[in-house]
Amino acid sequence: MAVDVILGLQWGDEGKGKIVDVLANQYDMVCRFQGGPNAGHTIIIGDKKHVLHTVPSGIFREGMINLIGNGVVIDPITLKKEIENLAEAGVDVEDRLVIAKKAHLILPTHRFLDAGSEASKGKDKIGSTLKGIGPTYMDKTGRNGLRVGDILTDAFKQKYEALKAKHLKIGEMYPEVDFDVEAEEVKWFEAIELIKKFSLVDGEYIVNEAISQGKNILAEGAQGSMLDIDFGTYPYVTSSNTITAGVCTGLGIAPQNIGDVIGITKAYCTRVGSGPFPTQLDDADGEKLRVIGKEFGATTGRPRRCGWIDLPQLKYTIMLNGVTKLVMTKLDVLNEFEEFGAATEYEYDGIKSDKLPYDINAYEIKPVYKSIKGWNKDIAYAKTYDDLPSELKTYIDFTEETLGVPVDIISTGPQRKQILHKEVVEASLA
Ligand code: GDP
Ligand code: IMO
Ligand code: MG
Repeated sequence: MAVDVILGLQWGDEGKGKIVDVLANQYDMVCRFQGGPNAGHTIIIGDKKHVLHTVPSGIFREGMINLIGNGVVIDPITLKKEIENLAEAGVDVEDRLVIAKKAHLILPTHRFLDAGSEASKGKDKIGSTLKGIGPTYMDKTGRNGLRVGDILTDAFKQKYEALKAKHLKIGEMYPEVDFDVEAEEVKWFEAIELIKKFSLVDGEYIVNEAISQGKNILAEGAQGSMLDIDFGTYPYVTSSNTITAGVCTGLGIAPQNIGDVIGITKAYCTRVGSGPFPTQLDDADGEKLRVIGKEFGATTGRPRRCGWIDLPQLKYTIMLNGVTKLVMTKLDVLNEFEEFGAATEYEYDGIKSDKLPYDINAYEIKPVYKSIKGWNKDIAYAKTYDDLPSELKTYIDFTEETLGVPVDIISTGPQRKQILHKEVVEASLA
């Protein structure tokens, strides 16, 4: 069987956690393939809200194997907290979670270096979540990193000390950053002991054997395609490949094993942190989206920047990912808009185009908007896709036509059940 992929097509926070949780019951295994605790994936089940940072969003499904793949960077301290929260909520996390030995570890001093790097950039800072993501991937590609499998070896402490010493040396560049290494180190080693109790695996064998046995696998992305290290709005990006290509390297599978690529977009657009965002609204509409959409970061609590959906941007990320199906989330957030916008082209450098320029940062981009008539009512009543207001369906049809990919599922609220499948008449997926 193939590995289906769910990933974000914008700048993150598209609702990946919710959609993975909903669809997970059709799969045997859910695997995170990149990123780390910079991610915050929210899942609301009944009146309980869970925010996952490292653990895959299939963890709430009985009998599901959840793999943290080799492409992920793990902060043991965050992972321990997540595991404890899940256990407290009654989730059988020990039986459902396995961790790839080739996943890299975020050391406390990686977070120190992240803070130093950001502080030294001043107004040009990336707006990082400061979880140590960049420095950890730098050590991975620089061939200095520590991996999960290393914690089982005698040389672990020695390797840790060597890397820490190196970081402290580099950290001398950032005397203004206050970081209590000793205190964080105590917590870190406690968390390492907890991780040792889990199944630490050769993820690439686990996934490929599951493929051979005909199991259904879902790969869960973190961040969004516009934050991809190669194709995002560099340098305002994260440090991993967030696009479909990252599934192959982040789990150890061949490209021909990729099945459906399910791309998620919000019905509008948000971004948190610095960097270009052509359709950002700094007006009452932007504020209205933020308030109704509760657009505050799940990891950092920072207010997200809000704007209209950006179709040239989505065309670009659909191309990069080979998206076969679209999911549109947060349509309910547009309930109270008489009309709203959808960018169809960019105007920059004297031209109009639906292609993104080499460096978005370098241009004053003026989006060309199509005005979309709103439905202007609460859509909570809709039990099937057909029940939805005609204006909403017209918006979906227009999006599909412009992007050339079918919208398979729409999400009408944060709860598991608030989901409508376009083709299936009944809301049977929740
Ligand atoms: P992720 O990082 O892609 O998993 O997304 P986040 O969890 O960071 O942010 C998505 C937010 O929107 C969370 O608070 C979700 O509970 C919420 N959410 C997801 N889908 C919907 C939806 O269809 N409508 C509304 N109103 N909220 C949603
Ligand atoms: P999920 O998986 C939204 C952003 C940060 C910053 C940039 C680099 O929840 O969608 P980093 O911490 O990686 O050095 O930050 O990327 N960013 C996210 N924005 N959702 C995320 O994850 C993000 N992870 C990182 O705000 O601009
Ligand atoms: Mg998030």
